[in-house]
Amino acid sequence: MINMKIIVAADYDEMSGLAAQTVAQSIKANPSAVLGLPTGSTPLGMYRNLIKMHKEGSLSFKNVTTFNLDEYVGLQKTHVNSFRYFMYENFFNHIDIQEGNINIPDGNSKDPEKECIAYEAKITNAGGIDLMVLGLGNNGHIGFNEPAGHFPASTHVAELDESTVQANARFFESIDEVPRFSITMGIGSIMRCRRILLLAGGQVKAPAIRGALEGPVTPALPGSVLQFHPNVTVVLDTGAASLLTSA
Ligand code: GLP
Repeated sequence: MINMKIIVAADYDEMSGLAAQTVAQSIKANPSAVLGLPTGSTPLGMYRNLIKMHKEGSLSFKNVTTFNLDEYVGLQKTHVNSFRYFMYENFFNHIDIQEGNINIPDGNSKDPEKECIAYEAKITNAGGIDLMVLGLGNNGHIGFNEPAGHFPASTHVAELDESTVQANARFFESIDEVPRFSITMGIGSIMRCRRILLLAGGQVKAPAIRGALEGPVTPALPGSVLQFHPNVTVVLDTGAASLLTSA
């Protein structure tokens, strides 16, 4: 477990507060910071805290640029389960970020391969990502980089693992409505970010957290690659940390 700073918070609220503080510090250090952002249940509390800081006047996103980690392929932008909808609903509509500074992969592109290349180029042209916030799938995925035989180098079209389809079905009326494909930053895209903040809460994440932080580095558990990143902060609650031997 080289180079990782691991913080175990008492509960989800404390974890969310610490995550928001880390993001806020980055923006205060560099008001033009480039952030990488995740969706999912895990970061919701962090977004709520950041919105609160903004409404209280202590944090502005005016010059911040964001890149979302991933998006489903084939959901309309207005679909309640598209990650675009999630981000506006839970974060962007409540802060002062400029519309032109928001980047989310277009899951409806007629040419998804081209969209992936263009998205990766946009990240490069923005100067790279200063702080990437990540959640972790129950199977150890990051973004939609599922357990596989290799580490994908850049933004690509990815097929969802059956276990991820099942995990995400809770947001849809039926499992058949869950998209099977996504556009996701690759492992290489994530590893090129200057700093990473990994968040995980709840007992359900404990095996994946243990594998990611203490197991061998392997594409079979994509989050484990973060052990090779030089600047990772991990914020967990006690449930997610419960199988760690060294935290
Ligand atoms: C999703 C997303 C990930 C997210 C993960 C965990 O499938 N693609 O970016 O981190 O699953 O989600 P949750 O935070 O809801 O547990």
